[in-house]
Amino acid sequence: MQLKNDRYLKALLKQPVDKTPVWMMRQAGRYLPEYRATRAQAGDFMSLCRNAELACEVTLQPLRRYALDAAILFSDILTIPDAMGLGLYFSEGEGPKFERPIRSANDIAQLPIPDPEQELQYVMNAVRTIRRELKGSVPLIGFSGSPWTLATYMVEGGSSRTFPTIKKMMFTDPKALHMLLDKLAQSVVTYLNAQIKAGAQSLMIFDTWGGVLTPRDYQEFSLHYMQKILDGLIREADGRKVPVTLFTKNGGLWLEAIANTGCDGVGLDWTIDIGNARQRIGDQVALQGNMDPSILLGSPERIREEVKTILESYGTGPGHVFNLGHGITPDVNPDNVTVFIDAVHEFSLAMQAD
Ligand code: CP3
Repeated sequence: MQLKNDRYLKALLKQPVDKTPVWMMRQAGRYLPEYRATRAQAGDFMSLCRNAELACEVTLQPLRRYALDAAILFSDILTIPDAMGLGLYFSEGEGPKFERPIRSANDIAQLPIPDPEQELQYVMNAVRTIRRELKGSVPLIGFSGSPWTLATYMVEGGSSRTFPTIKKMMFTDPKALHMLLDKLAQSVVTYLNAQIKAGAQSLMIFDTWGGVLTPRDYQEFSLHYMQKILDGLIREADGRKVPVTLFTKNGGLWLEAIANTGCDGVGLDWTIDIGNARQRIGDQVALQGNMDPSILLGSPERIREEVKTILESYGTGPGHVFNLGHGITPDVNPDNVTVFIDAVHEFSLAMQAD
C-alpha cells in the first residue's frame, strides 16, 4: 500500500519534503489520559505490551490528537532480556527491575538468543496489528535498545545512576562483557529483522547509556556492537529502504564515529546545537532532534520560540526529522504538544517557501 504521508522516511534519506517531519520519543505515554485509561484496563505495563490490540490502541492514541509524521511501536527495549529469561517487572516509582540479573560469566554462557516468532511473538503481533490499523497513513518505526544499554539493565538488575556493577565487569572481566554484548547484538539483529518482516518501515536503536562511557570504552563496548547490528540488518522492505537511526544520549562528542557506521539518521539530545551537528556530519546522514523535553513545561510562546530556533539552526534543505532530545515526561500538558507539533509544521513550511 502506498504511504499517504512519507515525509519522515524521505527526510531520513535526505530527500526533499514540504515540511519538516516530527514525532516524539515516548509519544504514547503517561502524559496522555487515554494512555493511562488503557494501561489501567491492561493491568501492568508488560500486560499492555503483550496485548497486540491494546498495544496498537496506545500506539494510535497520539496520532489521533496530533499531526505526527510517524508512529512508533508500543513496546519496550527490555523485551529482549525478558525473553532471555531474566524476569522483567516494573515496581511502582522505581522503574524496571529483573528478578534474575546477570552476575557471572556462567550466567552469560547460559543465555539463549530469543526467537522473535516464539518468546517475542507478542511484539511481532503488535507490529502486524499496528501496520494493519495505520492503513498507510504514516510509517511505523520499530526499535530496540543497543547491546550496551540492554546490558546495563541486565547486569545492574534495573536502572542505575553510576553503573558500578557493569563497570566493574568491564574492567575486571571484559571478556565476559564482550560475550554478553555479542549475544545481545545477535539477538537484536534477529529481533529487528523480524520487526521489518512484520511491517516496521524504519528502525531506531536507543543507546540511552552510551554517554556514560569514556571515548575509548564507547567505541569498544557500545558503538562496535551497534555497527555489528547495522551490518546484519536487511534494511529494505517492499522495494523501499528501511532507514535506521542511532541515538546515543550524550553522544554529541562522537558524532563523526556514529555517522561512520553507515546508519541513515543520528539522533541528537539537546546538549548540542543542531546546526553545529549538521556542519560536522550533516552531508553524511540525516539528523533527528533535538528539543529539550522540559520546554514542553513552558508557555506556548516559549515552545514556539524554541521550535523556531532549532529549525533555523538546522537551516534549509533536507535531512531533518524533528524530535525531542529524549522522551516526553508524564507531567507535560497534552495541549502544549499540539502547540509544539503544529509549530514544527508551520515554521518549516514557511522556511521552505522563503
Ligand atoms: O516511544 C514510544 O512511544 C514507544 C514506546 C517506548 C517505551 N519505552 C514505552 C514505555 C520506547 C521506545 C521505550 C524505550 C525505552 N525503554 C528506553 C530507551 C529510550 C529512553 O527512554 O531512554 C529505555 C531506557 C527503556 C526502559 C524503561 N522502560 C524505563 C527506564 C521505564 C520506566 C520509566 C518510567 O517513566 O517509569 C520503562 C517503562 C516504559 N516504557 C513506560 C513506557 C510508556 C512507562 C510505563 C508505564 O508506567 O506506563
